[in-house]
Amino acid sequence: MRTPVVALIALHALLAQGKLNSYSTVAFPPAVRRALPNSPNGYAPTPVTCPSGQQPVVRDASSLSPNETAWLERRRANTVEPMRDLLNRLEIEGFDVNTFLDGNANNISALPNIAIAFSGGGYRALLNGAGVMAAFDSRTENATAPGHIGGLLQSATYVAGLSGGGWLTGSIFVNNFTTVTALRDDTSATVWNFNSSILEGPEQEGIQVLNTAEYYQDILDKVSGKEDAGFETTLTDYWGRALAFQLVNATEGGPAYTWSSIGLMDDFQSGSYPMPIILADERAPGETLIPRNTTVFEFNPFEMGSWDPTTFGFVNMQYLGSNFSGGVVTNDAACVVGFDNVGFIMGTSSSLFNTIVALADSPDLPQPVRDVLAQALTSGGSENEDIADYPNPFFGYNNATNPSANSSTLTLVDGGLDFQNIPLHPVIQPDRNVDVIFAVDSSADTSFNYPNGTALVATYERSQSDISNGTAFPSIPDVNTMVNLNLNQRPTFFGCNSSNITSDNPVPLIVYIPLSPYVLFSNVSTFDPLAFNDTFRNAIIENGYDVATMGNGTVDAQWPTCVGCAVLSRSLERTGTPVPQVCVECFQAFCWDGTLNSTVPATYEPTLRLGSLNRPSSAASGTRWPNSLLLATLATTVALLAML
Ligand SMILES: *[C@@H]1O[C@H](CO)[C@@H](O)[C@H](O)[C@H]1NC(C)=O
Ligand SMILES: *[C@@H]1O[C@H](CO)[C@@H](O)[C@H](O)[C@H]1NC(C)=O
Ligand SMILES: *[C@@H]1O[C@H](CO)[C@@H](O)[C@H](O)[C@H]1NC(C)=O
Ligand SMILES: *[C@@H]1O[C@H](CO)[C@@H](O)[C@H](O)[C@H]1NC(C)=O
Ligand SMILES: *[C@@H]1O[C@H](CO)[C@@H](O)[C@H](O)[C@H]1NC(C)=O
Ligand SMILES: *[C@@H]1O[C@H](CO)[C@@H](O)[C@H](O)[C@H]1NC(C)=O
Ligand SMILES: *[C@@H]1O[C@H](CO)[C@@H](O)[C@H](O)[C@H]1NC(C)=O
Ligand SMILES: *[C@@H]1O[C@H](CO)[C@@H](O)[C@H](O)[C@H]1NC(C)=O
Ligand SMILES: *[C@@H]1O[C@H](CO)[C@@H](O)[C@H](O)[C@H]1NC(C)=O
Ligand SMILES: *[C@@H]1O[C@H](CO)[C@@H](O)[C@H](O)[C@H]1NC(C)=O
Ligand SMILES: *[C@@H]1O[C@H](CO)[C@@H](O)[C@H](O)[C@H]1NC(C)=O
Ligand SMILES: *[C@@H]1O[C@H](CO)[C@@H](O)[C@H](O)[C@H]1NC(C)=O
Repeated sequence: MRTPVVALIALHALLAQGKLNSYSTVAFPPAVRRALPNSPNGYAPTPVTCPSGQQPVVRDASSLSPNETAWLERRRANTVEPMRDLLNRLEIEGFDVNTFLDGNANNISALPNIAIAFSGGGYRALLNGAGVMAAFDSRTENATAPGHIGGLLQSATYVAGLSGGGWLTGSIFVNNFTTVTALRDDTSATVWNFNSSILEGPEQEGIQVLNTAEYYQDILDKVSGKEDAGFETTLTDYWGRALAFQLVNATEGGPAYTWSSIGLMDDFQSGSYPMPIILADERAPGETLIPRNTTVFEFNPFEMGSWDPTTFGFVNMQYLGSNFSGGVVTNDAACVVGFDNVGFIMGTSSSLFNTIVALADSPDLPQPVRDVLAQALTSGGSENEDIADYPNPFFGYNNATNPSANSSTLTLVDGGLDFQNIPLHPVIQPDRNVDVIFAVDSSADTSFNYPNGTALVATYERSQSDISNGTAFPSIPDVNTMVNLNLNQRPTFFGCNSSNITSDNPVPLIVYIPLSPYVLFSNVSTFDPLAFNDTFRNAIIENGYDVATMGNGTVDAQWPTCVGCAVLSRSLERTGTPVPQVCVECFQAFCWDGTLNSTVPATYEPTLRLGSLNRPSSAASGTRWPNSLLLATLATTVALLAML
């Protein structure tokens, strides 16, 4: 985020100053209609009459929504055959998959309930996560061959994403549950084309015939349109529009595509694929730093809201943007549709702007950059430019506990700013009864941008605090232990022994899958580079595939079987089924056994597991704040603005 933010901040400041308000009209080719561009006025939200007799209300979070409950029945039933195929392929010796599944056919809730969670971490997280997603997806070529684990995605109930992981989740589900390989290989459009950066906009080929000036102009037009419709806009609007050009497979980044429309897709409705969920954190009024116990919000295809005991409510996603007060929309005319733009939601989840606000004071930055940043940030006219603004659906709701109860806007920021950089929160909710979570971690924790378990520790600690509200999480060791025991270098299971956990609620098994170099050093920093050639992009994806499969079983031939054992673990327990001997061995090999070594480790610098793809890596440096890049970006921005 760091570099485009500079451009967007400058852009926003200039816009606010009225320096950029006359543009000529650009003619666009007719929109390509694929999924559901159902916002009547494109990016601008539209007031509509509320459905008669059914004004939207805030639902309290004490249960799943009726929509989700109904959907789950269809989805869980549809996971049985993919799970049968997967478990049979994984060759769990001494375990009769068909007998087990058929024996529990009348009680699907006895069978494994699987979730997958993709962490944040900018383009690194998008692409490493993509490799893992491809490995989990039975539609990927060879993903069902021996040594591979394809079919896990088809067996899963939930897929959660946050920030860069939210881009991945969004891009797959917004585009009609397409595949990673289709997005990677798409040449018909500019989707997943990172040859030119988000600052330059799409290349002039495919369906998006915009040059950079037109690209900026289009973004500005769309955001002004939302403002003209009477809605607050912030940097996140520009950011979300820009991201959508890269992630949404439609003309102009699909300004009319809504998150709630995912819920209307036939294949989603019938339970043919998992439910996507994206996360964001609340920045309560008056806060600049996000505390570890901040309220976490989720966006699922039906609803937006929070399970936390603070806000503890959900609203219908379709009517997000409506004028709620005290938990109801009182005025018939106060319903709004089209606020839940897919780019805006992906942008919200990756809204790290308050980090750059803090950065503006950093002595690490050259003075001229600080001056420009400071000017851009203050001339925006509001200290609240650095977040995503939502008309607050929870205004006057749960006044005693809701931090934003008195605020007409709800301000949301990047879902990882509370350190829970893996979106585990929605899938550890007791009402969802998840048995096993494949937690894909592409966080940049160490000085060379590798994960060290910080995200797991944050979720574990939160589960022990006042805000946990019934969520339970396995014990997680300190980050030094993670590194000393190599738990961040290869997949590790946490919470294998469920009887070691004291909770009245179900505790999922965590299958931690940290980014690690197999064939490529894919530890590029979060937003540097901003542009990737196709070769490098594909290599990060390929490395991610190896991260998930341990090199298709070449690093550990037992691994694919152990994935099957992890899937089955809680279900075996629930049904009183003996644990097969191979699984006992898997748990010995992959479970964290409680050992600690909290000595501060030496700098973590892993080597390639499987030799090099013979491509030079740009990831050798541990620099987190590439000043020269910031400066270059700033220069580019100024040049671009001059063009407008
Ligand atoms: C979505 O994908 C499914 C399966 O590939 C296909 O049958 C359907 O027509 C697609 N829907 C749209 C709107 O593209
Ligand atoms: C799939 O496997 C076949 C046979 O081993 C191989 O020729 C082909 O290149 C593989 N495809 C991919 C995408 O790895
Ligand atoms: C993108 O949209 C085009 C045009 O509808 C379609 O041909 C292509 O398959 C889509 N790509 C992906 C990855 O869904
Ligand atoms: C949610 O449930 C309501 C009530 O049954 C129904 O009218 C609506 O269509 C459902 N929404 C979706 C997206 O399925
Ligand atoms: C969660 O929080 C809500 C609202 O404060 C409360 O009513 C409920 O009992 C809590 N649930 C648990 C399991 O603590
Ligand atoms: C909750 O707060 C709102 C906004 O401050 C106020 O209008 C409302 O009366 C309060 N409701 C209750 C039940 O206290
Ligand atoms: C782990 O990551 C955190 C940041 O997330 C960092 O502050 C800490 O120094 C790291 N520790 C180790 C041992 O890598
Ligand atoms: C969050 O943590 C702070 C500081 O420990 C505490 O004062 C506050 O009550 C906590 N909030 C919630 C909702 O648990
Ligand atoms: C594993 O399989 C994937 C997909 O076929 C391939 O891209 C990757 O290179 C393979 N990895 C190894 C180590 O063979
Ligand atoms: C078992 O529980 C104890 C107490 O919570 C904890 O310290 C320990 O790390 C746990 N062991 C494992 C392997 O999770
Ligand atoms: C703990 O980890 C350090 C590496 O940081 C290692 O040198 C030491 O031997 C380990 N201690 C034990 C008891 O394994
Ligand atoms: C692609 O990018 C990588 C990493 O920046 C670079 O090393 C490589 O030379 C580039 N390849 C091409 C064909 O430009």
